[in-house]
Amino acid sequence: MSESKLPSRNILLLVSGSIAAFKAVALASSLKKAGYSVKTALTENATHFVGPASFEGITGEKTFLQNFDAGSMMAHITLERWADLILFYPASAESISALANGSGASLPSALFLAHEFKKPFLLAPAMNQAMWKHPAVKRNLELLKGYGVEVLAPGSGVLACGETGEGRLIEPEDAMRIIGERLEVADIKKTSTKPRILVTAGGTSEPIDEVRHLRNLSSGRTGHHLALSLQKNGFPVHLLQSEYSFAREGIQNLTLYSTTRDFAEKVKYQLESNHYGYVIHSAAVADYHVAEVTDSKGVPFKTSGKIQTDVPLVLKLLPNPKIIRELRTWSRNKDLKIISFKLTSDETSEMKLETYDSEWIIHNHLKDVGAENHKGQVFRKTPEKGYVSVSSFQTKSELDALILSILSSAPGENP
Ligand SMILES: Cc1cc2nc3c(=O)[nH]c(=O)nc-3n(C[C@H](O)[C@H](O)[C@H](O)COP(=O)(O)O)c2cc1C
Repeated sequence: MSESKLPSRNILLLVSGSIAAFKAVALASSLKKAGYSVKTALTENATHFVGPASFEGITGEKTFLQNFDAGSMMAHITLERWADLILFYPASAESISALANGSGASLPSALFLAHEFKKPFLLAPAMNQAMWKHPAVKRNLELLKGYGVEVLAPGSGVLACGETGEGRLIEPEDAMRIIGERLEVADIKKTSTKPRILVTAGGTSEPIDEVRHLRNLSSGRTGHHLALSLQKNGFPVHLLQSEYSFAREGIQNLTLYSTTRDFAEKVKYQLESNHYGYVIHSAAVADYHVAEVTDSKGVPFKTSGKIQTDVPLVLKLLPNPKIIRELRTWSRNKDLKIISFKLTSDETSEMKLETYDSEWIIHNHLKDVGAENHKGQVFRKTPEKGYVSVSSFQTKSELDALILSILSSAPGENP
């Protein structure tokens, strides 16, 4: 989007105590020049690095500093409601922790607690490379992504401390471009008459104890690819993605799940609280859960904590309920359409499509699913003949095109 076409929009910039905070001044200036209305809220520590005068001078707005500023006591609510997009730039490790853990001590973190995920909340970390790699920071960022925050991953290079590695705050030009793109998607979402779509992707895992899990090898790539393509084509999309899959970037509405139970709860919540037109169910849900862990004599182990063992373990696996059969029950929209995926591993596997309660089934063989290529066949449920094959695809882009044609076809029409 060119700068001249930018609509007048409210951008809230949150700034924390990082050596990179000076870039927030440059970003506020670029945003203002591009026609955005900009307000800033700083943590107390940010003021050691940049002064409120710089932001007030550039934005023409008061710089918000504390939860208890006379005259703006309710800033943690009013600023959040005012914004069309919120960007934490730079976000320090301390502030990331505060947000992830629900602290309301600083103005930016209290404001985050008032955020309802109806508009983009972006966060651009900046820190030393060792801090960036620290498991506590990684964990906090994963929590934030799970809540629906979009993390703008830092770049690498020589850092302010003299060390080299990842942790450099993204540049103001990149932040500007991303803000433009996210507002465009938010606009589409607000004005879209297209059906809302829930995409599930990746594999669920089943706990054996608190540290060991049984998992499948689903990468989550296909669902992520489809969600991106639908988002680009103006559909309001929510992606439910496995914590263990690597494909997540660029999705505006994202929730992460881990176990099958967690997955089921999150799908249920989405379907009960929103009017979805379609579910594209590409997640690989575990068929079994661990019902009991015993030694070879049948004596059960406690599964809280870590099972300490140097003896053989016996796992009793019981079938999981079929989540696909629950989708219509949970759905607020009783006319929900379901597109599900079925993977088989050899030519002779019995397909048993009839057990799937879906309008469409995308069938593929394990050998035909790769990083880029993806062959398969589309089946549609018909009242007369059950599932009939209606088309096939050779690549992920052909699959995109087929899904788009399904979504734009009237019910009953072939894609
Ligand atoms: C010179 C200097 C530079 C710092 N740069 C960073 C940084 O880039 N990232 C970071 O996470 N912390 C950095 N810190 C540490 C934070 O300022 C510190 O953890 C502080 O408590 C952050 O508070 P806040 O997030 O509430 O602003 C730096 C500290 C100093 C003194």
